[in-house]
Amino acid sequence: MTKRIEDLKVIENKRLNNDFFVLELAGDIKIPEFKPGQFAQVKVEGSSDTFLRRPISIHDVDYSKNTFKLLIQVAGKGTKKLSELKSGDSLNLIYPLGNSFSLPSDGEQVLLVGGGCGIAPLLYMGRYLKSKGFMPDILLGFRNSSRIIEFDEYLKIGKVFVTTEDGSMGEKGYVTGHSVFSERQYSRIYCCGPDNMMKTIGAYCKKKNIFCEVSLENLMACGIGACLCCVVDTVKGNLCTCIDGPVFNVNDLKW
Ligand SMILES: Cc1cc2nc3c(=O)[nH]c(=O)nc-3n(C[C@H](O)[C@H](O)[C@H](O)COP(=O)(O)OP(=O)(O)OC[C@H]3O[C@@H](n4cnc5c(N)ncnc54)[C@H](O)[C@@H]3O)c2cc1C
Ligand code: FES
Repeated sequence: MTKRIEDLKVIENKRLNNDFFVLELAGDIKIPEFKPGQFAQVKVEGSSDTFLRRPISIHDVDYSKNTFKLLIQVAGKGTKKLSELKSGDSLNLIYPLGNSFSLPSDGEQVLLVGGGCGIAPLLYMGRYLKSKGFMPDILLGFRNSSRIIEFDEYLKIGKVFVTTEDGSMGEKGYVTGHSVFSERQYSRIYCCGPDNMMKTIGAYCKKKNIFCEVSLENLMACGIGACLCCVVDTVKGNLCTCIDGPVFNVNDLKW
């Protein structure tokens, strides 16, 4: 897929809570057909110490409006600066980047598991799966009920399960301990979130022989395979998370 460097217009910057916001973006030309799991390298303007672009997943796409969305967690200076964007502002992106989640075969039982900003690529993945006739289950982890975001959007895709660390909604604890793993059968699990979460889900899938893909959030600089700062150790040798990933089969990762 051809990569673009493009100035997009911010249609809306919707604040979800203290930590998260959603940028809706539109371009002058037709947006590309995104594959689920792809990301953009976002330029942070107006800040001398955020020279490098920040990798952000494609969160949602509306081809009828020619817009797409990024769900962003304020983590540091770059994302803080992005959180200050207003409707009408311009944002420069290199996109679409990276590989994508693979599609299940007919009849497969699918679970999407996300925690933190890792829930971002799973909305578009879920919509994509639904458009292909699948009805995935979705398991999302949050710190507490006041931090739950985009719940209604995920509900449009499939059955949604939630964990909160304090038990204020859904099951108490982490996604890795949710009862779906003992009560429901899956042949495929797609996962994005903190490393420890993905490693635990990956180990579970290996043990149960379940197909599992994870989307890694390694630190990145160039995003196009030039700087090698995102290298990950795999059974196929060292691979770049930005061009060979961010999506990897857990069996390929030397975890
Ligand atoms: C392929 C990919 C897709 C991503 N998609 C999203 C997304 O959809 N939404 C979202 O909110 N975030 C996403 N991230 C994480 C996001 O890129 C970082 O949070 C962001 O670059 C931090 O920039 P900053 O300037 O705000 O923070 P910095 O000041 O650079 O760092 C602040 C803190 O965040 C940590 N951090 C920096 N980069 C990353 C990173 N890549 N992953 C995890 N922690 C990091 C730093 O170690 C530090 O502790 C993604 C990362 C990757 C690699
Ligand atoms: S970020 Fe530079 S090679 Fe991946």
